[in-house]
Amino acid sequence: PIHPVILCGGSGTRLWPLSRKSYPKQFTPLLGEKSLFQASVRRLSGPGFARPVILTGEPFRFIVLEQLAAIETGAQGVLIEPEGRNTAPAVLAAALWLAARDPEALMLVAPSDHVIPDADTFRAAVRAAAPRAQAGDLVTFGIRPTRAETGYGWLEMAAKADPDAVEPQPLARFVEKPDAARAEAMLAAGNYLWNAGIFLLSVRAVIAAFERHAPDMLAPVRAALEGAEDDLGFTRLDAPAWAGVPENSIDYAIMERADNLAVMPFGAGWSDLGDWQAVWAETGPDGDGNVTSAHATALGCTGSLLRSETDRQELVGIGLRDMIAVAMPDAVIVAPRAESQRVKEAVAALKERG
Ligand code: GDD
Ligand code: MG
Repeated sequence: PIHPVILCGGSGTRLWPLSRKSYPKQFTPLLGEKSLFQASVRRLSGPGFARPVILTGEPFRFIVLEQLAAIETGAQGVLIEPEGRNTAPAVLAAALWLAARDPEALMLVAPSDHVIPDADTFRAAVRAAAPRAQAGDLVTFGIRPTRAETGYGWLEMAAKADPDAVEPQPLARFVEKPDAARAEAMLAAGNYLWNAGIFLLSVRAVIAAFERHAPDMLAPVRAALEGAEDDLGFTRLDAPAWAGVPENSIDYAIMERADNLAVMPFGAGWSDLGDWQAVWAETGPDGDGNVTSAHATALGCTGSLLRSETDRQELVGIGLRDMIAVAMPDAVIVAPRAESQRVKEAVAALKERG
């Protein structure tokens, strides 16, 4: 089977005030009734998939258990990182943990902050990519780009690649988070896809990739696993060893450096719910372009997101054009929709104020 490895240790500051340090966006029901984390776990269950391996931080461990129980899913393992070291050490820890159980294992690394409406087609794409991953390639999933996004990784297809193929295609290069000029150039060039942040990898290939491209991570992550404590179903990585693990994302540490990359084009719909602009777009604006929640009312507004997260407070917008307004019991954000990315500045400003 394919082992889902779900990463859910990030903090999602651009979706403040719904996403909090203590309760980040992946655990909130941003769209629909289930959280993004629950949706990610469900998307990767069923025939051909093992029970998930979850990687998260200490503060989220009980949220993870509660949310798994609510969808009647038992994890194969819940690995706790004593501190966030970004995604590279998390992926390596999962690979080493799985390799100790099955050295031939395939893992599907998935973030928990995105939406894929058509889960069946996605599972079919994962299965179709399995032989290539088994053969040792690092398989990415590629999305047709629609804008010069600087917050994503970009995948340069090899000359002979077919972006409409239903099997993995050769990849020339991986470019993580380009600057605006480079993103514009890649969008114009036409032979690039966005990296969905989802990877199908054999544990053997992951370990080999770290040996080659990030050898300084290997020893401390191994030590953190060797010293791990099993407690109440959690695998708590050893904190002193983990403290010596360098911080990096899988994209920079491995993908940008590897030469055994492939891409599985995926055209059935994908969105990173990174900011309020994306939530507005994915929730399906009404005829006036508005998205309103319960306890929110739009009067003469267009293109606006009005969201009240509490039934103790009514939110009313009048004559708003392309704005977002999100009200929590203890915090409200109001901003032009086009400046949604700047919400992280609110978090920084409040932190500074203490
Ligand atoms: N367990 C764990 N530990 N999870 C983490 C950590 C960590 O230290 N840091 C981040 N994560 C989780 C986040 O919760 C998220 O689900 C996922 O890993 C990806 O991290 P992000 O921080 O959201 O990455 P990104 O959005 O900037 O970039 C990645 O995703 C893009 C697509 O959404 C990259 O893979 C890009 O190349 C890609 O385009
Ligand atoms: Mg993300």
